[in-house]
Amino acid sequence: MKARKVVDNVYWLGAIDWDRRLFDSLVPLPDGTSYNAYLIQGSAKTVLLDTVDPLMADILLFQLANIPHLDYVIAHHAEQDHAGAIPQVLEKYPGAQVLATPKGKGMLIDHLRIPAHRVTEVNDGETLKLGDKTLEFIHTPWVHWPETMSTYLQEDKILFSCDFFGSHLATTDLYVADKGRVYEAAKRYYAEIMMPFRGIVQKNLEKVKSRELALIAPSHGPIYAEPTFILEAYTDWVSAAPKNSVVLPYVSMHGSTRKMVEYLVSALAERGVAVHQFDLAVTDIGKLAIALVDAATLVIGTSTVHVGPHPLVFYAAHLANALRPKLKFASIIGSYGWSSKTIEQIAGLIPNLKVEILSPVLCKGFPQQDDFDALEKLAATIADKHKENQLI
Ligand code: FEO
Repeated sequence: MKARKVVDNVYWLGAIDWDRRLFDSLVPLPDGTSYNAYLIQGSAKTVLLDTVDPLMADILLFQLANIPHLDYVIAHHAEQDHAGAIPQVLEKYPGAQVLATPKGKGMLIDHLRIPAHRVTEVNDGETLKLGDKTLEFIHTPWVHWPETMSTYLQEDKILFSCDFFGSHLATTDLYVADKGRVYEAAKRYYAEIMMPFRGIVQKNLEKVKSRELALIAPSHGPIYAEPTFILEAYTDWVSAAPKNSVVLPYVSMHGSTRKMVEYLVSALAERGVAVHQFDLAVTDIGKLAIALVDAATLVIGTSTVHVGPHPLVFYAAHLANALRPKLKFASIIGSYGWSSKTIEQIAGLIPNLKVEILSPVLCKGFPQQDDFDALEKLAATIADKHKENQLI
């Protein structure tokens, strides 16, 4: 892909990674991703904002072939998918200086072994004149590492936000065209890496919203020509109030737990509660993370393996605990063969979730009428709790 003009003297550079299916050896990428860099040519200075994943450095260097001089490389974030090609860029431009937050400088040195003398720290609110264009650095920590920042191009009112507002989406669309697709990809991205820092994301959101924004140009996915689209979405996701929904990840080995899940899902649906059901043996964990963004209640369904939860449930519970969603309630359902310590073990896995535990329902073998009655009661309790909290 060649460089593409965004506005006069501002260009999209970067690489579209159509075939990548996993990030951090953890996060599924069903739609690939992109690594967006941007070039700003002021009347006096030329700046590159971020680079690309080092595996695609050749694409960026090809796009820079006709750029004879670079004054600065702005490193919004030290993670390799944006900073990983900085060493090659610095080699091409021996006079260029990297600009980063103080924490970013340390991380660029630690992770990429960039020489300290090639990196200059920039403060929150500091500006840099490029001649006819002015950059303002806005520290936006924890979106999603401690060193992250954004850059605001004052004259063109463009916010370069790096991971913040990004979406893992490989597309030839320079700007958002399919809003539904981008919304889901951006929500998935928020859920997977931003949600644990919801409080500080909210503060960063207010901070960037105080600027007049014509465009938001993230480092993954298309540019937002209607910034309110993604700003409103983030405002909803970071808000304190969950929605009237239940997330129900489960594993069933011989059908007993699945029968309980089916019963509970039906009983909740009859009461007007939305349920997101995930068979952990086959689910995309990104979909589970998306559902956790809004849910008020988590119900974990598990078979019993060696008197404890199924290993996939350990994984899902650990993930939910790490993502710190705004859940208010949790419960456990499942089946066991002869004995079980499932409840104690799952409870020990989710200390970060500040939830009220609703009476679990565990049954021996295949569920019977008493078990279905207990599930009916659990559904009624969840629906009542949601109503008491005025969840919509
Ligand atoms: Fe897109 Fe945190 O790197």
